[in-house]
Amino acid sequence: MALHTTPLLPAGQQNIHALWLRLAHWINALAILIMVTSGWQIYNASPLFDFEFSKTITLGGWLGGAIQWHFAGMWLFGINGLFYLLMNVATGRLQKKFFPVTPRALWDDLLAAVKGKLAHNDLRHYNTVQRVAYLFVMADGVLLVVSGLVVWKSVQFPLLRTLMGGFDAARYVHFFAMSAMVGFVAVHLIMVMLVPRTLLAMLRGR
Ligand code: HEM
Repeated sequence: MALHTTPLLPAGQQNIHALWLRLAHWINALAILIMVTSGWQIYNASPLFDFEFSKTITLGGWLGGAIQWHFAGMWLFGINGLFYLLMNVATGRLQKKFFPVTPRALWDDLLAAVKGKLAHNDLRHYNTVQRVAYLFVMADGVLLVVSGLVVWKSVQFPLLRTLMGGFDAARYVHFFAMSAMVGFVAVHLIMVMLVPRTLLAMLRGR
């Protein structure tokens, strides 16, 4: 059996995800859980639509408690997200891992995925569907923060408020950005269950 080695470590021992990346990922997962469930409780106090979220899946107990959770989680999500994005840019990882993205490669990988033929041999390499999904969720995170700033301090961020189309529109933007995030996480978790080796790598690095 051929053993693929590099001058540094045998294949099984090479790091797939650096420690900083793994820490940022799991802190982010916790922050998202806090933000989404407390956000649903806040939403229930003044629903935008004809439904409310069940109390069993919300955090904070009541509006005041939920706002406390949301504001605490906001710093965790914002600072950790900034750290993740800055590290990705500064180390050149963003460019290396998530680009190039071409419509052709996206189409090919989507077709392969539908046929169950998308390769997962090398976990250090993201296919184009993953690249697009991860870039999308990064952008969605930024949109959540920006629209959240407008909902929180509308008067202090007049430019952002205008960009969002006003205070009321910012609430809808914030809601739909949350929905997109929840949609991503649902698909993300299904994908992780389909390829459990990726979970091991995100936990222990290899
Ligand atoms: C308990 C929940 C979660 C689990 C079990 C999980 C698991 C994983 C795993 C296993 C990977 C590596 C994928 C691969 O190597 O192919 C990954 C990557 C990623 N996950 Fe999650 N995840 C969770 C929550 C989240 C949440 C809430 C977000 C929200 C934004 C997220 C965003 C990402 C991103 C952006 C990447 C790519 C990271 C990079 O390489 O820079 N994950 N996740």
